[in-house]
Amino acid sequence: MSELNNIALKITSNGKGILAADESTATMTKRLESVGTDSSPEKRLKFRHSLFSSGSMKKCIGGVILYDETIRQEYNSRKISEIISANGALPGIKVDTGAKTLANSSDEKITEGLDGLRERLKEYYKLGARFTKWRGVYIISKEYPSDLAKTSNAHALARYSALAQESGMVPIVEPEVLMDGDHSAEDCLKITSEVIKKCFDELDHNKVDLKGIILKPNMILPGSSSNQKLSTQVIAEMTLECLKKSVPNEVPSIAFLSGGQSEEEAAKNLNSINKLNDSNFLMTFSYGRALQQSALKYWAKNQEDINGTQKIFNHRANMCSLAAKGNWTEDIEKK
Ligand code: 13P
Repeated sequence: MSELNNIALKITSNGKGILAADESTATMTKRLESVGTDSSPEKRLKFRHSLFSSGSMKKCIGGVILYDETIRQEYNSRKISEIISANGALPGIKVDTGAKTLANSSDEKITEGLDGLRERLKEYYKLGARFTKWRGVYIISKEYPSDLAKTSNAHALARYSALAQESGMVPIVEPEVLMDGDHSAEDCLKITSEVIKKCFDELDHNKVDLKGIILKPNMILPGSSSNQKLSTQVIAEMTLECLKKSVPNEVPSIAFLSGGQSEEEAAKNLNSINKLNDSNFLMTFSYGRALQQSALKYWAKNQEDINGTQKIFNHRANMCSLAAKGNWTEDIEKK
């Protein structure tokens, strides 16, 4: 078990965080089309390889979450997992098969993928993965999330985590309370605390070793269509309040998702959290959009300019890494 703890710490210590590049083919196709490019296995590989071979990998990125397609791909006859390891990061894999309509609460989702998971995990381990990800999603509205959504998603996250640990891999436990809606940050704090507590109840039932997991939560923010404006200081205070009261002390690391924040907001808020962090938890990033957005936009128009794409990605990775140490500033951001 201490091996799992070592993996979690290797991925998240010393200002390192996680590059979430595990968009499903459907999601990645949407992202590519939104910047005016069509989507093919070769294009998805070319863009992702430019990130995985960037100069900032060694210093800033402790782990890369891959999608099934990518972990099986090679670039110039080298396995993608080897390219990532050679750049100092551990390869990880998304193992859920997506969020589907929850029966008897059809506005909500339940994440699927438990059937056959033990066998799939064995294969992913052989392909080089040393950590895994499973995401549960929750909406906030007057009646949601329902108890059913909280209980079923927590149960699935815990059964997945037990199987991931059995296979020698660290599970990332990702209960994402979505930013969509006009709810207040206070609502987000209340619901996120309930959702996280429920996850830890189920992790406990399933005898998951908490020293060998990484929690990937949302920050505490007002809904994206609410008028509430909060300073980064208040966001950090509320996020810490939520996590200190709902996450057991044994958990080594918390790696936030960006969840629709802009690149700069995601760095700034993580920085404020780390400046105030008086808990035992390492607090870092596991960003998808907030690490890739600008790089993808540039790459779409300049697909042969790998250096230009990497320069943009390196800046974002550096900003997130500084934020993971509480050393980010607006001046460095603008340089
Ligand atoms: P975002 O940082 O874009 O929210 O993605 C993180 C992620 O892995 C979602 O599952």
